[in-house]
Amino acid sequence: MAERGEATVLIGFMGSGKSSVGRHLARRLRLPRYDTDQMISSQIGRTIAEIFERDSEEAFRVAETELLREFSQEAAIIVTGGGIVLRPENRVMLRRLGRVVNLAADEETLFERVSRRRTRPLLKTPHPRSTLRELLRAREPLYLAAADFTVDTSALRHEQVADAILARLEELEVNER
Ligand code: S3P
Repeated sequence: MAERGEATVLIGFMGSGKSSVGRHLARRLRLPRYDTDQMISSQIGRTIAEIFERDSEEAFRVAETELLREFSQEAAIIVTGGGIVLRPENRVMLRRLGRVVNLAADEETLFERVSRRRTRPLLKTPHPRSTLRELLRAREPLYLAAADFTVDTSALRHEQVADAILARLEELEVNER
């Protein structure tokens, strides 16, 4: 297996825009798009919230790692769940698949975005705002450690985030020539 593959992997906190930006990128680059949450959900036959509730978070994390093992290094857009960076082995696998792009946003923006839909099991707590802050603090270093670069999506539309990613990818390629 080559050291780094041809995929573009989107990581980042819940609400950072991974799914929408992934759709834009896949369309623009005419590449297949794989979404780890969607794949796990359809493999198990339950929503992510149901997996957390009926099975456990650990069962979901095991499914995430097993799924990552199955990916090839083909050119594709891979959209991941916000907690995929928690396991060190996942971070290694993500980097083997290709370029890893961290989508970031400020806490306020993330909270506003995730509050639009109440589907995230980890934020179903008495104080979702402080839960978000704690999770974000704990995870920020992991996103940065796994990523080739970060794009701040707070003030950008999905299309603009896709533009920024394409520009950075191009830059990386030029520098490697
Ligand atoms: C999670 C993020 C979710 C989903 C699951 C756990 C996390 O994905 O994988 O609820 O640990 O941050 P999104 O980042 O797409 O919301």
